[in-house]
Amino acid sequence: MSGAAAMAAIRPGALEGVVRGRASYGEPLSRHTSLRIGGPADALVVPADLEDLRALLRFAHREGIPTLVLGGGSNTVVRDGGFRGIAIVLGEAFTALEAQGTTVRAGAAVRVSRLVAFACRGGLAGVECLTGIPGTLGGALRGNAGTQAGSVGDRVLEAAVVLADGTVARRARADLGFAYRHATLPAGAVITEGLFDLERGDPAAVRRAISKLLVARNRSQPVESRSAGCMFKNPPGDSAGRLVDAAGLKGMRVGDAVVSPVHANFFINQGRARAADVLALVAAVRARVRDHAGVELELEVHVVGES
Ligand code: EPU
Repeated sequence: MSGAAAMAAIRPGALEGVVRGRASYGEPLSRHTSLRIGGPADALVVPADLEDLRALLRFAHREGIPTLVLGGGSNTVVRDGGFRGIAIVLGEAFTALEAQGTTVRAGAAVRVSRLVAFACRGGLAGVECLTGIPGTLGGALRGNAGTQAGSVGDRVLEAAVVLADGTVARRARADLGFAYRHATLPAGAVITEGLFDLERGDPAAVRRAISKLLVARNRSQPVESRSAGCMFKNPPGDSAGRLVDAAGLKGMRVGDAVVSPVHANFFINQGRARAADVLALVAAVRARVRDHAGVELELEVHVVGES
């Protein structure tokens, strides 16, 4: 489908009567990504509730319109031409967070940091390892986000999803295929909720673990800068950041896209960087690490949209 055809299919107002939630047309996705980069989406919808999300997906499925779920907008590079289709951001309606005993149910739009704080307050252990991870739980589950101390999938009992045709389904942990920075979901499925299996912990010990991790992260990562999180997956047994650093590439830049001088696996938007700059920097860094260490770095971030 050409860009022009998709624009015609989703002209301003096209979603009136289809969704009750907020729809905007030609919305710059730079407003919705942590890198603050990305061209416009034909439409961006914040569904009013689960039924609204289902109606939207049914419509997109029937009309053959691509969808893109943005989550918290981290871990994503949206190209400068934007997205021909409907970008979806889960809002308020997906922020429920409750515990029953040691089982925690959390909506996909709950920030990872809010889940960590909630567990800490309730003296529940098991998600301290997620301290400092940006973005929302939906995105974290989608990519099995984690740190060296553990990943979000380790504690998942099940996830609620809406399939591309609008059907609701539940996926047990065993069906989610969690691996390093990976989960298996049918194409176009949207995660709406996660159920987590935590355990009773000593509140003071949980708090200590969290502050230790926060201190380490604030020291070793450019937390105040605009980035997408780690750019590359760690190759088995090594760290992508260490490899990029060892190749002497901290501070390397294309336009306003810069390899962070703090942690070399973070690429920073220092001002007016475009996706094309970030991707040119990615290509240059990969080539240099290949030459220097013989390692082929694999992207962790998702690159979406049109050039
Ligand atoms: N290192 C360098 N130079 C650098 C960066 C790192 O020499 O510029 C060295 C460090 O000194 C250390 C080793 O590389 O010896 C590992 O570094 P670090 O502890 O920072 O961990 P990492 O492997 O680079 C991983 C995750 C991070 C997560 C941290 C902390 C990946 C790709 N990265 O980084 O996750 O926050 O551990 O647990 O798995 C992300 O996934 O987006 C992410 C940032």
